[in-house]
Amino acid sequence: MNAPASPKTIRLADYTVPSYLVDNVDLHFDLDASTTRVTSILNMRRNPKGPGEDCVLNGEHLELISIKLDGRTLTAAEFQRSNTQLVLPQLPEKFQLEIVTEIYPDQNMALEGLYHSGALVCTQCEAEGFRRITYYPDRPDVMAVFTVTITADKQKWPILLSNGNLQEQGESEDGRHWVRWHDPHPKPCYLFALVAGDLYMQQDSFTTLSGRDVTLQIYVDKENHDKCDHALVSLKQSMRWDEETYGREYDLDVFMIVAVNDFNMGAMENKGLNIFNAACVLASPKTATDNDFYTIQSIVGHEYFHNWSGNRVTCRDWFQLSLKEGFTVMRDQSFSADLNSAAVQRIDDVDQLRSLQFAEDAGPMAHPVRPDSYIEISNFYTVTIYEKGAEVVRMIKTLVGKKGFRKGTDLYFDRHDGQAVTTDDFVKAIEDANRIDLTQFKRWYTQAGTPVITATHQYDATKKILTLTLQQSCPATPGQTEKQPFLIPVAMGLLDAAGNSLPLQLIDEAEPYDNDTRVLELSEAEQTFRFIGVDQKPVVSLLRGFSAPVKLQIERDNEELAFLMANEKDSFNRWDAGQSLFIQVMLSLINDYQQDKTLQLPEILSKQCAAVLEDKTADPALVARMLTLPSENYLAAQMKVADVDAIHHVRKFVKDTLAIQLKAQFDTLYQQHNLPNVPYQFNSEHMGRRSLKNVCLGYLMATGDPMQTQRCLKQMKQADNMTDTLSGLRLMVDQPGTEREHALRAFYEQWQHDRQVVDKWLTVQALSSLPDTLIRIKGLMKHPAFSIKNPNNVRALIGQFCRNNPALFHAKDGSGYRFLTEQILLLDKINPQVASRQLGAFNSWRRYDVKRQEMMRDALQNIAQQQDLSSDVYEIVNKYLA
Ligand code: ARG
Ligand code: ZN
Repeated sequence: MNAPASPKTIRLADYTVPSYLVDNVDLHFDLDASTTRVTSILNMRRNPKGPGEDCVLNGEHLELISIKLDGRTLTAAEFQRSNTQLVLPQLPEKFQLEIVTEIYPDQNMALEGLYHSGALVCTQCEAEGFRRITYYPDRPDVMAVFTVTITADKQKWPILLSNGNLQEQGESEDGRHWVRWHDPHPKPCYLFALVAGDLYMQQDSFTTLSGRDVTLQIYVDKENHDKCDHALVSLKQSMRWDEETYGREYDLDVFMIVAVNDFNMGAMENKGLNIFNAACVLASPKTATDNDFYTIQSIVGHEYFHNWSGNRVTCRDWFQLSLKEGFTVMRDQSFSADLNSAAVQRIDDVDQLRSLQFAEDAGPMAHPVRPDSYIEISNFYTVTIYEKGAEVVRMIKTLVGKKGFRKGTDLYFDRHDGQAVTTDDFVKAIEDANRIDLTQFKRWYTQAGTPVITATHQYDATKKILTLTLQQSCPATPGQTEKQPFLIPVAMGLLDAAGNSLPLQLIDEAEPYDNDTRVLELSEAEQTFRFIGVDQKPVVSLLRGFSAPVKLQIERDNEELAFLMANEKDSFNRWDAGQSLFIQVMLSLINDYQQDKTLQLPEILSKQCAAVLEDKTADPALVARMLTLPSENYLAAQMKVADVDAIHHVRKFVKDTLAIQLKAQFDTLYQQHNLPNVPYQFNSEHMGRRSLKNVCLGYLMATGDPMQTQRCLKQMKQADNMTDTLSGLRLMVDQPGTEREHALRAFYEQWQHDRQVVDKWLTVQALSSLPDTLIRIKGLMKHPAFSIKNPNNVRALIGQFCRNNPALFHAKDGSGYRFLTEQILLLDKINPQVASRQLGAFNSWRRYDVKRQEMMRDALQNIAQQQDLSSDVYEIVNKYLA
């Protein structure tokens, strides 16, 4: 667990190809939760292209039992060993190593390598967990064919799984049994997986496009036997979608998913044996919300799509992480868009990108999609690598078009199948398939920071010409002061006063443009576009569908935003105009509040919201999003100095005022979409109606009318699904009184046996706006429902409070900061990855007032001064303080 005195920075510029390769590996696990003996037989050879030095094998937290070279046991003088490496000098061209180690799954709380969780033991090897299992060249550019034999007590561990196809199995006399798995596809060790346990299995099958039958299996704790259907359906949808959309078929006889209660992240794409955080796979209507159902579908898709984008074609080194993650997120986003509502998907993706990734890009951890250096790779599983990486691939698709993109990905998969490659190789395949040059575009991979586009325009009524000027700039980020211009696709359109599209013919074009939207390519610091034949002064709509991950600055008054909110063709931009209107109004109210002026809501806002509420043709899911106010965190990011209290007060004022002014409309819509007698179904229509109904209920509760509390309680009582129950509970916890306490108690009593639901119960309390929230959180940490060793518990309670309850986390007395500091120091001794994630709540610490900055700096310095920090926490805390 302890890092070396001062952890080392790893640089992309220092990359060298491996000196030795592994052709195949035979792993034998003599398995038990307390001590597992691992025998690894490696058939290795010198890499003709390698630098030809000693053979370096990684290994950490290992008890070395023996090493044999070509059958001969090596003496201690014949190799060097440290806490992290085993170095073998003077090896022949080709040789066999047999290494025996012992590991202790029970004691592994970092949840990397082989660890024990409830009824099972399992592995997590990405990025560098395999080195906690045995000595091995733990780097993704060493790909080998794995054969894995597991021996274990049959009663205790009836199910024994690993990657690939099941080859053989048998029993030994002492109550033990064994299985042998063989994975014919060469893979890096980060894709290795092993699971043993006493689990329930649900089975299904899938026939691939070419007619091969694949067995599908989901393994879960026995009590979760009724929560597998949704993941299985999602898996089949994913398999079909990847065949139809990318021409990719599955390539083994069996595909397995295992649900695990203790897991550092969401899920892991181990070849043929995906391991999931239980929260990202288990679902039943009674226990999972619409949001859970939706997320599970997308994560099952994400991990499945990795089989090609990640496994068949993998990363050369960890600087290339976005090669698989950015591309795969982009794939899962379009999968979700195809299966559900594309407009809603885009709004939710952009909302998340802007609130989380833009904050990362504006803070001390800002890094390019392909970073140049890192200390601890686990810290780089970030929204930049994932979500911005996905935006970058999406822009490539926008630039080459749908067909061109498919040609490009076909070439990429074909050319690099079985290889470990770079983001440059990915872009090169797209370039070659489309005969284009993306040299400038590649700056998106190397320059950090969110570009800002400033747009101005002038209309010449006599010549009927619109002149649009776009300027771009990008703020400095750590290690990058100067930036070169990006190539930015700007999808845009022009609207007349009635909301109709105007032509988009540029001045040097002979023919009119035949579409309502066109993509301008902004490649210089400043560029001017002249549109001819524009009959009237247009409203300019820019960045339709959020065609690039940039901040757009364009001066629009409230009336123009309201016009776009009502008339814009692109549903994303309609929503975005509404968000901009909310933000503009709230920033101005915050100003008033800071100057002690009485607050008054501009009429145009309630008028516009009323129009949204009364639009009978609108998709309820979109209406729900249109009526959702920007979060306090997002508002904070729009201010020079974030004023926590003013933001909280003003946002509540706007919500309460709208609630009172539009009470009748909210009431009507609530009743229209509340269908207590219709059984739960997970589909876009029902989901949209539930989300709108619950947004309305939120406003109705904000009126302060006691009748609405009764309605909320009634909804909770009648609901046959967790979406409606939890929406009710969330609203109840902000109201002090006995009804609140009763609702929380009753909810826990009903669901205490269900980990996923208990985590929701913790979160609801962590997000309460009542002043005693932190005291209650400390109490909950002593409750049997909570364990500091369980990452989901930590995220549900501590993480949610620190990230999503800004008014209380940033309390003036510093109590929130002290609380987080204590938890981080405690967690770092248990699970460094989880500890380091929690530090993220301090990401924007320099954006608050002087007093809060001082308190947060003290907190960070306190952490930085501790002895024996993990490399995970060491890296983040020092970058924050730099
Ligand atoms: N590759 C996984 C994914 O699908 C992420 C797993 C990383 N886990 C970790 N502990 N570093 O996104
Ligand atoms: Zn992934």
